[in-house]
Amino acid sequence: MTEPDARAVPDKARFKVLIRALVQYLKPYKVRLLQAAVSMIILAAIKNAVIYISGPVIQGIFVNKDMHMLRLIVIALPGLFVLRMAVEYTNAYLMSWVGQKAVQSIREDLFTHIHRLSIEFYWRKRSSDVMSRVINDLNNVQNTVQFIPLYGIRDVLTVVACVGLLFYINWKLALISLIVLPLIAAILGVLGKKMRKASAESNVIVGEISHKFQESLQGITVVKAFNYEDQAIAKFKVSNDAYFSKMMRYLRATAMSGPIMEFISGLVLIGIIYMSGKAIFNGTMTTAQFFSFLAAYVTAYVPLKNIANLNSKLQQGMAAWERIYQILEEKPAVIVKATTGNIAHLDGKIEFQDVSYKYPSRDTQVLQNLSFRINPGEVAAFVGPSGSGKTTIIHLLLRFFDPISGRVEVDGHDMLDLATTDLRAHMGLVTQDTILFDDTVHGNITIGCPGASMDEVIDAARAADAHAFITAMPQGYETRLGERGVKLSGGQRQRLAIARAIIKKPKILLLDEATSNLDTASEQAVQSAIERILGGRTVIMVAHRLSTVKNADKIFVLKKGELAETGTHKELLALGGVYKGLYEAQS
Ligand SMILES: Nc1ncnc2c1ncn2[C@@H]1O[C@H](COP(=O)(O)OP(=O)(O)O)[C@@H](O)[C@H]1O
Ligand SMILES: [Mg+2]
Repeated sequence: MTEPDARAVPDKARFKVLIRALVQYLKPYKVRLLQAAVSMIILAAIKNAVIYISGPVIQGIFVNKDMHMLRLIVIALPGLFVLRMAVEYTNAYLMSWVGQKAVQSIREDLFTHIHRLSIEFYWRKRSSDVMSRVINDLNNVQNTVQFIPLYGIRDVLTVVACVGLLFYINWKLALISLIVLPLIAAILGVLGKKMRKASAESNVIVGEISHKFQESLQGITVVKAFNYEDQAIAKFKVSNDAYFSKMMRYLRATAMSGPIMEFISGLVLIGIIYMSGKAIFNGTMTTAQFFSFLAAYVTAYVPLKNIANLNSKLQQGMAAWERIYQILEEKPAVIVKATTGNIAHLDGKIEFQDVSYKYPSRDTQVLQNLSFRINPGEVAAFVGPSGSGKTTIIHLLLRFFDPISGRVEVDGHDMLDLATTDLRAHMGLVTQDTILFDDTVHGNITIGCPGASMDEVIDAARAADAHAFITAMPQGYETRLGERGVKLSGGQRQRLAIARAIIKKPKILLLDEATSNLDTASEQAVQSAIERILGGRTVIMVAHRLSTVKNADKIFVLKKGELAETGTHKELLALGGVYKGLYEAQS
């Protein structure tokens, strides 16, 4: 699976795609954007009016000593300022609103999208990397989405209006003072490229930093027990230092753009003063024109400098957006056909026909031409050394991924023709490690069956031998679990997992080493809970300890992704092959 390099600076074509995608998120707020644009135009108009009258006003008051004009200014200007304040507030409010809204829907799309992706995505991506994109990169995008239109459009408008004014006042002088613009554009272009590169690289390092945090937080017991602290800290420092230097590279380019602009426009300013001075002496320019010209030039200067800074924000934002967009672009590997009908009822027949599978990151196949059949209501056990492909079979049945060749059939339907949600609705899964969500016991049992009644929850808990310990907790079924909730023992977790699986009344029950992590006493409790719920459904049981599969209707012995032996416990012992060897080694 090739993957766009997060470090790479997007080329022109990619940049276009990114911008177009970002614009899609702004589209729903067209009206607000339009209102903001109008307020920006009003703002630019007010500014230019002030500039334009500044020349005559300065001349009138200070040169001609016109008292009438002085009074007019004192009365008119405050009104103009109040208007400007109101427009500026409206503008800032509207743009922040649009920015926040756009980012809100990007965040929601990200969350929704990662739920739609197939398991294969999680094999490739570290969760901390996804987290860093969702938090850090999205924050940068938010800055960009909010500030670029807010200040960018306003500043561009101001500059354009000022330039128009410059030409209106004295086009020759205007032309001369704008000769340096291409030079400025070229410098900004070079700096922009540097910024984008450094910014893209620093985003990757932020991902690494958050990965290191997550790793240490999750593995804190091992970190401490093995005195791994110093090594972990040293490794962290490497990333942290790298982040600092990348960030400084970005900031150097940012810091450079301001002074360079200032230097160039300072030179131009000297030129303007020199030439207008001469023009005034010659009588081809009035003092009022000179002051208006100067005011327009100076007014254009600050927004021009801002545009240079916006460039740096834009580069940072686009580098971050690239990383977010990569996730939004991910396609599910498991394709659900549009034609898939829904399956209201399932008998629970399972058939593998010449099924082979290979993990994308591996060269060799983990399952090779595997064929077997399990009839409705049968209990089938898969045994074999670890790494022989047992979990892979369970995951194929859940359609986490599709075989590279062969067919998996459920009730005679090719699995590819069944909708994954329908299929999974008929399946119950208990794995080795039970994930508990930050929710109540009740909420954790009903995750696959949100409409279940309290009676059903209690029935399921009873069947799973969990009711007693649940009611012994102070808040019973309302006790909170999860990371910050009550801690349960391994056996208790497994019995909750069984309750969670059977409340769905699944036609196919998948037990993947459900008792492997337990001590003997808990194992027995969980095992008897399992035996109680076997009836009336097809069961696939993967087990490490062979004593737990003795009563299965069929036992499949896997070896390196192939079926080595098949039969009942008795038959396999009589056969005297792999199974017998394993069984004797264990007893
Ligand atoms: N996500 C994965 N990516 C690459 N290889 C994998 C992945 N999951 C499992 N494998 C490999 O596939 C083989 C079979 O794994 P698995 O089905 O989990 O075996 P079992 O459950 O029998 O222990 C092993 O060699 C394992 O390393
Ligand atoms: Mg396994």
